[in-house]
Amino acid sequence: MIKLEALTGHHDRSGFDCGVDALNVWLKQTAMQHQSKGISRTFVGVPEDAAVANDYQAMGYAEINTNSILGFYALASASILIEDLPPAWVKRYPRQIPVTRLGRLAIRADMQRQGLGRLLLADAVHRAKTAAQAVGSAGLFVDAKDDQAARFYQRYGFKACDSQPLKLYLPIG
Ligand SMILES: CC(C)(COP(=O)(O)OP(=O)(O)OC[C@H]1O[C@@H](n2cnc3c(N)ncnc32)[C@H](O)[C@@H]1OP(=O)(O)O)[C@@H](O)C(=O)NCCC(=O)NCCS
Repeated sequence: MIKLEALTGHHDRSGFDCGVDALNVWLKQTAMQHQSKGISRTFVGVPEDAAVANDYQAMGYAEINTNSILGFYALASASILIEDLPPAWVKRYPRQIPVTRLGRLAIRADMQRQGLGRLLLADAVHRAKTAAQAVGSAGLFVDAKDDQAARFYQRYGFKACDSQPLKLYLPIG
């Protein structure tokens, strides 16, 4: 199994490749800086322990160890305008609302389509809901990078804004 924990300098960021350069580079170059400045929080999925890392090695993932990042996501506070939300919410909220932005979500290219993305997304929703108990946040907001990514989020209840199909929202309030 994998465990999810906050990104630290011990994790092997340079070995991560999800197939999307912008996401790889962000993890390598920006995630730790943003973390230390409180701009965003990054959470990584890693093998639960050495035995699990060994299991991955036995399955052919030769270089995996307990610091290997199998997937990650980042959360940040944000404020959005009502026109960026799907129409159903327009009447419920004031013009500008606090949200939690799911900035990035990515799984190693050779481990995609194995359920890890769903697991990390569930963890992000849970974390955002817990944080919203202490600091107001009406929902999770995501800028999907393309139509495929938007479809992934829609599977889990995110609704797209009519005019901007890559902006998706999930209420958590
Ligand atoms: C998008 C991404 C995070 C999904 O993670 P994943 O581990 O491959 O997805 P999962 O295996 O958990 O799949 C969960 C479900 O979503 C579906 N799914 C996965 N990727 C999908 C995609 N690109 N488009 C549509 N559906 C997708 C799966 O078929 C699965 O559905 P099922 O349970 O009915 O079979 C991953 O493919 C990825 O890292 N892609 C590259 C980076 C990226 O595009 N990130 C999004 C940034 S906005």
